[in-house]
Formats: sequence, C-alpha cells, structure tokens
Amino acid sequence: LGKLLVSAAFLAITVPAVATQTDSELRKEAAEFFEVIPSVIPAIKDNAITHAKIELGKKLFFEPRLSKSGFISCNSCHNVGMGGGDNLETSVGHGWQTGPRNAPTVLNAVFNTAQFWDGRAADLKEQAKGPIQAGVEMASTPERVIATLKSMPRYVEDFKVAFPGEEDPVTFDNVAKAIEAFEATLVTPAARFDQFLEGNDKILTTEEKQGLSLFMEKGCTTCHNGVNFGGNGYFPFGMVEKPDASILPENDPGRYTVTKTEDEKYVFRASPLRNVALTAPYFHSGKVWELESAVRVMGTAQLGVTLEDNEVKAITAFLKTLTGEQPRIEYPILPISTATTPKPEL
Ligand code: HEM
Ligand code: HEM
Repeated sequence: LGKLLVSAAFLAITVPAVATQTDSELRKEAAEFFEVIPSVIPAIKDNAITHAKIELGKKLFFEPRLSKSGFISCNSCHNVGMGGGDNLETSVGHGWQTGPRNAPTVLNAVFNTAQFWDGRAADLKEQAKGPIQAGVEMASTPERVIATLKSMPRYVEDFKVAFPGEEDPVTFDNVAKAIEAFEATLVTPAARFDQFLEGNDKILTTEEKQGLSLFMEKGCTTCHNGVNFGGNGYFPFGMVEKPDASILPENDPGRYTVTKTEDEKYVFRASPLRNVALTAPYFHSGKVWELESAVRVMGTAQLGVTLEDNEVKAITAFLKTLTGEQPRIEYPILPISTATTPKPEL
C-alpha cells in the first residue's frame, strides 16, 4: 500500500491537468482540427497522374540542365533526401546568389491550398514555371528549356509517352505538368501522429500527448490545421506582436507584394508543419534554427503569450511526431547531352 501511495503522490505532482483527458477524448478533439495524411497519390485537377508522367517528372525534378548553368535542379533546393528543403537560411541559386526567402519543403506541398510564403502561385503547375525562370534560382527561359529537352531524343520519346495524342508534346506547360505529377507522389504518410489519430494510444509519449493538447488549447490550431497543419491560409506574422527585424526583415512585406493592400503587409502563409523537425531553419527569413525557439516566437508573436519552458518542450516534442515516412526515390538516369544541347552558362 505504501508503494501505491507514493506513486499516486508522484503522479499528482508531475502530471499536469491536461493529462486528465483520456486518449480517446484527446483523439476526438484532434480529429476536429486535423486529418490523417493519405498514403495514396492524390488526384489533381486537369492533370491525370500516370506512371509515365511521374517518371518523366522525376527526371525533370533532378534535371540540372533545366537551369542556365546546367548545375541547379529542383532537388538542389528541395533535396528529397533532406526533408524536401535545403536547410539553408535562404536558398543559393544561379551564380551563387542568395534568394530572399527560405525554401519550403516540397513534401506534401500537393496538399497546400496556398502556394509559396505569399501565395503567388495557384498550384504546383503554375509554381514549377517560376524557379526555372527566376534570375536568382535557375535563370533559364522556356525557349532554352524546350531546346534542351528537344536536343535529347530520349526526352522527346518520354514526352510522347507521357502526353499521348499530343502533336508537339515537348512544351513548357507539359514540363510543369510532369513535375507536378512527380511532386504529387512526395507525400509522407504514417507519421506517429497519424497513427495516434488512427487509434494507436501507445505510439505517443505522455509528453507528446501533452504537446498535442497544448497545441489545441493555446490556439495554434487557429492557423495550423487540416491535413498539413497549415499551408491553407494567410495571417500577419506578428498577429499580436511584431517580431523584431532580425526574424522579420522589414524589406519583405509578404503578401503585400502580391495584393498591394496595406493590411496585407507582413502577411504570410501559415507554414505547413508536417516534417517540420527536418526543415530547419525556420520562418520565411530562415533566421531561427531551433524548433523550440520558433515555437516560443509563435507564442509571443501570434498568440500574445509567453509559453512556459515545459510547454515549449511538450509542443516541440509533439511537432516531432509529425515526421512521416519519407518517400523512397530511385535516382533517375538522365539522357545524355547531344551536340545540339545548349551549353552550360555559369
Ligand atoms: C518554393 C518547387 C526549384 C527555392 C517552392 C514551392 C514548390 C517548389 C512546390 C512552394 C512550396 C510551398 O509553397 O509550400 C520547385 C520546383 C523546382 C524548384 C518544382 C524546379 C523546377 C527551386 C530552386 C530553388 C528553389 C532551384 C533555389 C535556388 C525555392 C524558394 C521557395 C520555393 C526560396 C520559396 C519562395 C517564396 O515563397 O517566395 N518550390 N522549386 N526552388 N522554392 Fe522551389
Ligand atoms: C510559422 C508553430 C501559432 C501563423 C510557424 C512555424 C512553426 C509554427 C514551427 C515555422 C515553420 C517553418 O518555418 O517551417 C506554431 C505553434 C503555434 C503557432 C507551435 C502555437 C503556439 C500560430 C498562430 C498563427 C500562426 C495562432 C496565426 C495567427 C503562422 C505563420 C507562419 C507560422 C503566418 C509563417 C511565418 C513566416 O515565416 O512568415 N508556426 N504556430 N501560427 N505560423 Fe505558427
């Protein structure tokens, strides 16, 4: 009996109030905000996802000759072996230039309804055309891309198979469609959080469950919800208190650049948080390297609260349960250049 009393007293001290919620209550509440990530490739409007298209899109995703230098591919900045990002403050592109923003992950990007930090692109098709042409990224042109692809018979054949019935399938639009098809395969199912949502009580630790509970109780779910825990809406970064310029540089007004509306100054997309443990550094500025610090900043900036150390730790522990099964990708063999392939220009 003595032993029982001791452990009861121990429990009373160490387990905070949130733990009185049973696992099934916690699961029920979580299911109101979040969805289990699908383990199948999602369908995409106006772009049938066929194997031929996925295989071509994979080649293009790893194809450095889509860039003017012949050196930079999508995978340079969205490394699928590193959580789909580059783990740099801001990306390095053509001529060693650094861009203005941190590269978001391409993993699960297909579920985002808002693309980019500021929502410039409507979908992944539209998105893919951006970096190929951006001066600080791949610095190419649609003409150069088409000339490059048409110079290699293997690619011409691949486009014919991927876009059957089209007269002249090697087009910039089809490049984007094939890449979008490949990106649709980059989903990360079966995170421990998903397994909890599907009914496995034991898969999360007590601290992780407390973190999940706090994430909902504190109101993080106002902005981070749905299948991707974000990626579906825009909010002022500094909803309650503007972070200082070392985190929120004044020269990037976010959505204001797109909409030119005064009240969209410093409005950014609520970041999707799946695989967030793999994608440091954080925020569009990439100025925060520790996930715990990013959580603390969110408390003050978005909610106007100073989170206690143990709350920060629990929420961070919970966020780490959002790391899913990473896609297994076989590195594609790319067609060899011919005499007519445009030469690299550094
Ligand atoms: C954003 C894909 C090349 C750096 C994105 C997003 C996608 C994507 C899907 C949006 C993700 C989201 O909003 O959650 C691609 C593809 C590429 C490519 C398919 C090849 C055609 C590159 C390269 C770089 C780069 C080469 C670096 C030099 C970035 C950055 C952003 C971004 C910095 C955020 C831009 C902003 O929000 O203003 N990319 N990317 N990307 N990518 Fe890429
Ligand atoms: C970004 C967590 C509350 C809106 C982030 C990031 C994390 C995070 C870790 C960085 C992700 C990355 O860079 O990949 C949290 C937590 C919250 C919370 C734990 C609760 C304590 C909120 C709320 C809002 C919000 C309530 C909306 C009012 C945003 C926005 C960004 C963001 C707009 C992007 C900021 C930028 O870099 O421009 N959140 N968040 N968050 N969150 Fe939250």
